[in-house]
Amino acid sequence: MNDIPGAARALRAGELVAFPTETVYGLGADASNPQAVTKIFAAKGRPADHPLIVHLPDASHLSRWARDIPETAYRLAAAFWPGPLTLILKRHPAVIDAITGGQDTVGLRVPRHPVALELLRAFDGGIAAPSANRFGHVSPTTAAHVRDEFGSSLSMVLDGGPCAVGIESTILDLSGDSRRILRPGMLDAAAVAQVLGEAPSFAAGADAPRVSGSLESHYAPTTPLRLVAEADTEVAARAALDAGNSVIVYSPRPAKTSHPRLVWRQAADDPAHYAQELYARLREFDALHCDLILVVEPPPSEAWRAVADRLGRAAAAAK
Ligand code: TXA
Ligand code: MG
Repeated sequence: MNDIPGAARALRAGELVAFPTETVYGLGADASNPQAVTKIFAAKGRPADHPLIVHLPDASHLSRWARDIPETAYRLAAAFWPGPLTLILKRHPAVIDAITGGQDTVGLRVPRHPVALELLRAFDGGIAAPSANRFGHVSPTTAAHVRDEFGSSLSMVLDGGPCAVGIESTILDLSGDSRRILRPGMLDAAAVAQVLGEAPSFAAGADAPRVSGSLESHYAPTTPLRLVAEADTEVAARAALDAGNSVIVYSPRPAKTSHPRLVWRQAADDPAHYAQELYARLREFDALHCDLILVVEPPPSEAWRAVADRLGRAAAAAK
């Protein structure tokens, strides 16, 4: 059983509490307490100028954290909160610099997980929480993953089972003149566009503000990971095996070949299920200590954008 009142007390005392959300597990601290927020950066080994998302119990808290809130923010909140959408808004003057990385904006979201919501309501304030992994690692989607990341250094880990969404929230920037998706997630651009009445753009490359998830090397397993076209899978696996390597293939198709140094894992063929499993799979693959992970490229459609984004980053880290 999760001790929600105890966790809320720990937050008030400036301690860290890891908790489940529908996307990934978060490493939480009282977002109004600079010392508590500093502990997040220390625990993660994350650069101090990377901004954090503040989690709120409901949209009525928005005005305590943001200013000049556009009407579209309230419409998006009504449509998608609680849920996997983070809104970037102009920061309220009271928001501490440790949260925003010194930027004039703040990231806010209401997560859709009963344990997260219970904790937020008991705490009755903003909880700053990045994904509960060490900097650059794969995000955790179970309480056991969180314990693997931090061991006994983290005393409070609330357990809400495996995360239903499995990859991080969609980040939508409403702080400027144009609406931009800074990080794609399973809440896709089409859903956002329906409420906005216009299609958001996607931030790219050098243009993007400081988002640690936008560093290429994020979300990476330790084992080198390469993306391959489905038609090239067997040839690529064979070449790696012939070179003496041990290989994991992650493909939506069942294995056609076998080899003592080949591990073939079948992937889901729909994006929601694929995303839900992805980070747990990457952790399993790392634990096999093979030389190479070959992942079949997802289809180039909008529904797969967020999955393709995370796989692309995992592959970039291997270069
Ligand atoms: O699904 C999620 O969003 C999870 C769960 C725990 O809520 N959280 C998460 O946090 O992924 P984190 O810190 O791993 O990634 C948050 C991203 C970072 O890339 C950060 O730079 C960006 O949000 N971010 C936060 N505030 C921002 C701001 N004011 N402007 C631009 N990007 C911001
Ligand atoms: Mg993260």
